[in-house]
Amino acid sequence: MFEEDKKNLLKLNNKIFPQIRHYQLIKKIGEGSYGKIYLAEDTKKNNLVALKIIDKTFLELLGKTEEAFIEQYMLINFKNKNIINLLSCFQTKQKLVFVIEYFQNGNFENYLKQIQSINGILSYETSKFYLAELLNILLFFQEKNIVHLDLKPGNILMDERLHLKIIDFATAKIIGKEYDLNTKKFVKNSKNNKLNNHKKIKLNNNNNLNLIGTIEYISPEMINGNIINYKSCDIWSFGIIMYELFHGYTPFKGKNNLDTIENIKNGKFYINEKLPFEVKDLIKKLLCYDQKERLGILDIKDIMNHNFFKGINFDNLFNEKVPENFKKSISDSEFFENKMSFHEELYTTDDTENENEDIVENLNIKKPNFIPNFSFGNDFCIVKFDKHISLQDNYYY
Ligand SMILES: Nc1ncnc2c1ncn2[C@@H]1O[C@H](COP(=O)(O)OP(=O)(O)O)[C@@H](O)[C@H]1O
Ligand SMILES: [Mg+2]
Repeated sequence: MFEEDKKNLLKLNNKIFPQIRHYQLIKKIGEGSYGKIYLAEDTKKNNLVALKIIDKTFLELLGKTEEAFIEQYMLINFKNKNIINLLSCFQTKQKLVFVIEYFQNGNFENYLKQIQSINGILSYETSKFYLAELLNILLFFQEKNIVHLDLKPGNILMDERLHLKIIDFATAKIIGKEYDLNTKKFVKNSKNNKLNNHKKIKLNNNNNLNLIGTIEYISPEMINGNIINYKSCDIWSFGIIMYELFHGYTPFKGKNNLDTIENIKNGKFYINEKLPFEVKDLIKKLLCYDQKERLGILDIKDIMNHNFFKGINFDNLFNEKVPENFKKSISDSEFFENKMSFHEELYTTDDTENENEDIVENLNIKKPNFIPNFSFGNDFCIVKFDKHISLQDNYYY
């Protein structure tokens, strides 16, 4: 089948059809659900590129042929400054190769991990900036009627100015259309936007749980297979990312994938009560269990108009400088020194503390192994996460 496709394969605007011999592989920089990503030198142009190399046999074995073509289709047809640029693609007998612009700053997941490893957390302003940039992408998706369906920090790259670039469109869809493997096009969905239960089947099959990568960003309706409008899934993932930026971890992470799935299905999550009101309010509205009530389901601009984004000029974000990255964490000794002066203001003993601890245990939600430092503008404030929670403000459906 791939051989038949060969002639039809898009050449993009390249005059010289690229071949694997034009590229010198340097090192592997990523491995995902079906592809391996290599840093390579384009020996003709003397520049660095990323090659996403997909083994055709493996692809067919996994039943993911369609995903590879969808990824190609999406990257060719939907260009945006916050979406990775596909430079060209070609195939060899055994492999499909996507040539993509290379970004040495890697993905957002590793960036967050680095910050978390020194007990840090992104500053309020930086989080706000990145979330606004992600919203611009969601608005673009809305305008084009597309959904990504796998939004997570591992699928977001950071460019040389630390702006965000979305990658990995393997699971993307055009709403109301379905991909036709024969014509390699999206065609009108005759079955009235029939839902694809692909993910659901995989999620219900325990044997496959480890194959599907991180599932912490998946919406309950995706797990339950009762999606009304796919857009709700991207909004949910966006909400999980927002939660993660302000807590240093995701809300439903369990001991293993099964636990995580149970936690998502259950829908309850813990939120740091010390966060500013507008942060908590928006997180709750995004992680609203009812997909029909989720903020943004009617219009992404409803999220943009939330108080949290006050002062953001969405149109100019890409040209702006990303605000200072993060507040470096302070050492334990500094923490205790500061604690004396901060104590009264920041810490109040809460009678419900132990009760809450129990609920967190029962929910199997992984508790953080670090103390995030929050910085809200100039007021540097330290929040010792697992001590100061109150029942009424903790769990949301
Ligand atoms: N253009 C690129 N530049 C730098 N790193 C990349 C690039 N594309 C992918 N990567 C790295 O490879 C990882 C997997 O890429 P992705 O396209 O998500 O593959 P998969 O579809 O297999 O998940 C990313 O998380 C990132 O770390
Ligand atoms: Mg990926």
